[in-house]
Amino acid sequence: MFPLRRNRRLRTNEAIRSLVRETVITPNDFLVPLFVVEGKGIKEEIPSMPNYFRYSLDLLEKEVKELWAMGLKSVLVFVKVPDNLKDNKGTEALNQNGLMQRAVKTIKNAVPEMIVMTDVALDPYSIYGHDGVIENGMVANDITSSILAEMALSHAKAGADFVAPSDMMDGRILEMRELLEDEGFINTGIMSYSAKYASAFYGPFRDALDSAPVDLIDIPKDKKTYQMDYHNRTEAIRETEMDIDEGADIVMVKPGIAYLDIVRDIKNAVDVPVAVYQVSGEYAMIKAASERGWLDHDAVMMEQITAIKRAGADVIASYFAKDVIRLLK
Ligand code: PBG
Repeated sequence: MFPLRRNRRLRTNEAIRSLVRETVITPNDFLVPLFVVEGKGIKEEIPSMPNYFRYSLDLLEKEVKELWAMGLKSVLVFVKVPDNLKDNKGTEALNQNGLMQRAVKTIKNAVPEMIVMTDVALDPYSIYGHDGVIENGMVANDITSSILAEMALSHAKAGADFVAPSDMMDGRILEMRELLEDEGFINTGIMSYSAKYASAFYGPFRDALDSAPVDLIDIPKDKKTYQMDYHNRTEAIRETEMDIDEGADIVMVKPGIAYLDIVRDIKNAVDVPVAVYQVSGEYAMIKAASERGWLDHDAVMMEQITAIKRAGADVIASYFAKDVIRLLK
């Protein structure tokens, strides 16, 4: 008798499909990136990220209340630093009254239960647009790592629940963890960007923060000496296991869609939550193609978000979070 098995039975209608569905998206999956600027009354759209905005602190307050009401309970904060406060060693990053530190307090005041994660990296503060201190034409690892640990401590003092180092220096998780422990911040979490690749998908984000590496002789024009080489796969497991050994609570793969093989490898290899960052370029591609009428925005968005979760993401950092929630309702 042919065919003995008819797989289409389980696809007959939406009721049976939803009964056997393996991957379901909920508001609990999302971590919402937020861009913050100095000033008052500012909500400015990022040109290469349609319908995504930078907020001044007063409007940030309104935004996080809205997120909370939608069921979005975690945010990842990035700041756009004024040019006159940038230098080569992240001085402003350690300012206890800096924009990031004030942003954390603003969010925690507005919505105390909101999980606030902070970006820890020097690029928004760097005159060179690099994630570390430049010395002899190189991004210097160990000095940078020590500054990042101080930066993490400063964010913890401001009230951050998690610090999220996105820099890819060696050893920074251990240095950060030890400093946080020594200073009594034993409950501050670390979400490490553990397998972060040197990717061309970060372009719109660098527009958002004005943080692209500068084009100067003697300064590296890309981040390939610290972010990972996208030809490599097993290296991602080593990077991730090291960060866990050093004290990371959550690990991350970044970017998303082009790296789902890595996501599954990591998910199978480790026993801590795995975050995936669907980055700015992934967002921009869907927005641009759908503006042209070439792709169905909502359908492609849901397909990609679901693919990220199916691959093994426990946490999804995505600029689509609000769009997805609206669609689910
Ligand atoms: C930098 C940082 C980047 C992103 C997050 N943190 C860009 C980079 O590494 O150059 C990218 C996020 C995105 O593209 O959405 N520390």
